[in-house]
Amino acid sequence: MSDANQYGYRAFQLGGFRFTRDEYFVHIAWPGGSHTMPADAFLRALIRDVAWNFFYGIVNFDSVFGTVNHYGTVDVFAGLYNAGYREKNKQHVENINGDEVRERFSEILADWTNEDFDPFAAPEETGTPFGSKHGSNPKAINRKRLVASRMTGMKGDTPLRSDAAGNPVNRQFKDIPQDEPEVHAEPGFETEVHAYNFFAYVSRSDVTWNPSVCAAVKDSLICATTEEFMLPVIHGNDRVEWFVQLSDEIHWDIQDRDSGAPRARAVMKAGDVAAMPADIRHQGYSPKRSLLLVWENGDPTLPEKYASGKLKSNPVDF
Ligand code: PHB
Ligand code: FE
Repeated sequence: MSDANQYGYRAFQLGGFRFTRDEYFVHIAWPGGSHTMPADAFLRALIRDVAWNFFYGIVNFDSVFGTVNHYGTVDVFAGLYNAGYREKNKQHVENINGDEVRERFSEILADWTNEDFDPFAAPEETGTPFGSKHGSNPKAINRKRLVASRMTGMKGDTPLRSDAAGNPVNRQFKDIPQDEPEVHAEPGFETEVHAYNFFAYVSRSDVTWNPSVCAAVKDSLICATTEEFMLPVIHGNDRVEWFVQLSDEIHWDIQDRDSGAPRARAVMKAGDVAAMPADIRHQGYSPKRSLLLVWENGDPTLPEKYASGKLKSNPVDF
């Protein structure tokens, strides 16, 4: 590529932000400042910000750089949620059309992801992101969302995962039973009644830290995920978020959403349930691959209700 640097990587511009990479690092510059991140951490955060369409609220790539979702437009920021930057008024933020941000981020992801690196995979299950540019990995960065019209595994609907379909049970979930429930429908209801082994389905996921909506009832969105190593973003939500730890354990660092000041540590073990308040940011660490259920309320009026104090940030008092 003609405009590639000496390492083979292109430079990208988004508003006043300029992104470049070398063999190990990503460099982000903006009017008045600059920042450096390891390429692996940057690409892992970037692919999720793109795939989640900027998620709920704030996606911090680290303590300096990130995005705020305004559901149409996106604030791309440096230092906005960093107490040190704020104290010296050094933060920089640009509000940009969401499609434009997603397009530029997707281009960066495509150019900077080498052929043996999968940013959605656990570190033990992928090659290195480092070095000068060698190949690309479109298969890893263009995964398709599977949408069931009624329910996974029903006749004519999205199929269940299987060895034959190329979805083996993950190496760390060999202990999850793979048997399927028996369904005995009344005559005439064979196409109406259905059940499948959800743990078995999720044990065959090849991605980490990527909530998939598995039940949607009005604004109630229940999302199953498989987690290993660390959540590659520090998520600052604009609403309350519930976690149900379905297997193994995750250690959470919980900080003040705006300043990053430490607020709590939560070690969640199988069966534990947590309501993460609407005024925090969090990052999780999963020492062994684990199953987590994330429950989000998609009601678009919630951010304003929390921001204005109409709703208090914690849903339960003990
Ligand atoms: C979160 O930020 O709450 C989050 C993100 C991705 C996951 C799990 C939790 O896989
Ligand atoms: Fe979160």
